[in-house]
Amino acid sequence: MEHTRKIALYNHKGGVAKTTSVINLAWSIQKAGKNVLVVDCDTQENCFMFFMAASGQEPILPTAYERIKHTTWTRYMEIDRYETDKFDYILFDLPPAMTEEVKQIIHHCGIVYVPTMLGEFEIAGLEQVTVEIARQNARLGGVFITMYQKQNDEELLETFRTALHSSLMETVIPFSRTVRESQKAGLPIEPYFAEKKVPRNGNSWKIVNAYESLAAEIVHQCEA
Ligand SMILES: Nc1ncnc2c1ncn2[C@@H]1O[C@H](COP(=O)(O)OP(=O)(O)OP(=O)(O)O)[C@@H](O)[C@H]1O
Ligand SMILES: [Mg+2]
Repeated sequence: MEHTRKIALYNHKGGVAKTTSVINLAWSIQKAGKNVLVVDCDTQENCFMFFMAASGQEPILPTAYERIKHTTWTRYMEIDRYETDKFDYILFDLPPAMTEEVKQIIHHCGIVYVPTMLGEFEIAGLEQVTVEIARQNARLGGVFITMYQKQNDEELLETFRTALHSSLMETVIPFSRTVRESQKAGLPIEPYFAEKKVPRNGNSWKIVNAYESLAAEIVHQCEA
C-alpha cells in the first residue's frame, strides 16, 4: 500500500468551515477511488452525523459510504498503525483553539490546510497560525478561502493573494445556502444534491465543483 497522507484542517478562528471542508473533501477524495479515514478531534464530533457513522465500540467505524470510515482522536490513538496505514488519506477535523492536544495532532499529521474567510483581521491571524504550525514541525499545505461572496469580497481576495503568495490555494470555495441545507440533511453536498435531484448545470453545483477542485489540488500536492 502507498504511503498514507495525514492532513489536518485547522484555523484558530471558529466557524470558518473546517468541518464542512473535511466532510466534502472526504467525499471528493473517496470519489477518486481512495480510502479515507475522518478523525473527529473536536469533542462535538461534528463529522459523525454527516457520515451517519454506525455507533459502536470498534475504533474504526463504517459510514454510509464504502470508502469513508470514521473515528475520534481518542480512539485513533488506540488504533494499530497497521490499521491506519490501510487508508490513503486521513483527515483530521480540529477544534478552533491551539490546545496542547491540537499541537500534538498537528505534529502527528505533518501537513495542515487552513480554511479562512476573507476579512480585515484575518491576515494577521493567519500569520499566527502559520507560526504555530511551524513550531510543531509541520508544514503548511496551503490556505484556502471559504464562503466567498463576489460582491463583497473581490477586493479583499486580491489583498490576500498579494499577502499570501503561493500559500494561497487556487480554489476558492463560494458561499452557498445549500451547505446549511445539506448539513441539516446530514449529507455531504453532492449526495444531498443527488437526493434532491438538483440539475448538474445549475449555479448551485459551483460549490460541489469547488470542493472537487480543492480535493484535486490537495491530492496533487500530496502525491507529487
Ligand atoms: N461555503 C459555505 N457557504 C455557506 N455556509 C457555509 C459554507 N461553509 C460552511 N458554512 C456554514 O458555516 C458554519 C460554520 O461551518 P463549520 O461548522 O464547518 O465551521 P468550523 O470551522 O468547523 O467551525 P468550528 O470552529 O465551530 O468547528 C456552518 O453553519 C456551515 O453550514
Ligand atoms: Mg468544526
